[in-house]
Amino acid sequence: MTASSTDPGHVLILGGTSEIALAIAAALARRGYGLILAGRDADALQREAADLEIRHGVSVTTASFDALEPATHPAFWQSLNPAPAGVVCAVGLLGDHGVARTDFNHARQLLDTNLVGCISVLDQAALAFEQRGEGFIIGISSVAGDRGRASNYYYGAAKAGFTAYLSGLRNHFASNASRVRVITVKPGFVATRMTADHDTPALLTAQPEQTARDILRALDGRRDVIYSRWYWRWIMLIIRLLPEPVFKRTRL
Ligand SMILES: NC(=O)c1ccc[n+]([C@@H]2O[C@H](COP(=O)([O-])OP(=O)(O)OC[C@H]3O[C@@H](n4cnc5c(N)ncnc54)[C@H](OP(=O)(O)O)[C@@H]3O)[C@@H](O)[C@H]2O)c1
Repeated sequence: MTASSTDPGHVLILGGTSEIALAIAAALARRGYGLILAGRDADALQREAADLEIRHGVSVTTASFDALEPATHPAFWQSLNPAPAGVVCAVGLLGDHGVARTDFNHARQLLDTNLVGCISVLDQAALAFEQRGEGFIIGISSVAGDRGRASNYYYGAAKAGFTAYLSGLRNHFASNASRVRVITVKPGFVATRMTADHDTPALLTAQPEQTARDILRALDGRRDVIYSRWYWRWIMLIIRLLPEPVFKRTRL
């Protein structure tokens, strides 16, 4: 089923247990979108789906999805019923940078989860939306992809790749003159289980609901790339402009 003027259709949420994703899911449900929560933890997804259905009175289903199994992604996409009108990719793994430095399997897990797996599944979405002539893809990347830092350069490298992928996809659809939108989201710190063990500065740490609001505003408007919260655009501009001899001496 595709979206109509009365029914906005269903949105596929990849990484459906993510706290940011669930805040976006709730915001979309408030607008009448149905939801498909996809991920690895079937019990957690069922719980969240039941909660969203009760709170918002929309249809919410679940689907099994593992970013680390790209060979399953074409069948996963074909199995989705109804066919999604849009996709939010909130899959992410911060991992343990120290472990990744000495164990390439973990470094590879970071690259495969944050980059390869996301590209693999979003390629399915892109092909389907291209055929239909409409749809939206919201990819949650990170400010970590704007400049490699000593503390998380595997995660950062994957997010940089993801940002470039989303940019290329957007260019592809722009030159196609189609009505497929690709939105890149670059959050700074967000208070979720991903950052629970990290000491993030309170003033710069957003709540998932604030990130969700920023994303919905982008969906309503024309912005292709957003930072969330807005001040990260300026923080990252300064960080990107720092000359390398200065940057390499910082502990950012
Ligand atoms: N929190 C921040 O400060 C922050 C900042 C910048 C960007 N981000 C990005 O925001 C997005 C959402 O993160 P979050 O903060 O909400 O963290 P989160 O709650 O830890 O969510 C991460 C999500 O990724 C899923 N995931 C991990 N590996 C997967 C795999 N192999 N296959 C399928 N799903 C997998 C997790 O599912 P399971 O439940 O199965 O583990 C979970 O749903 C991520 O892309 C993250 O990189 C977060």
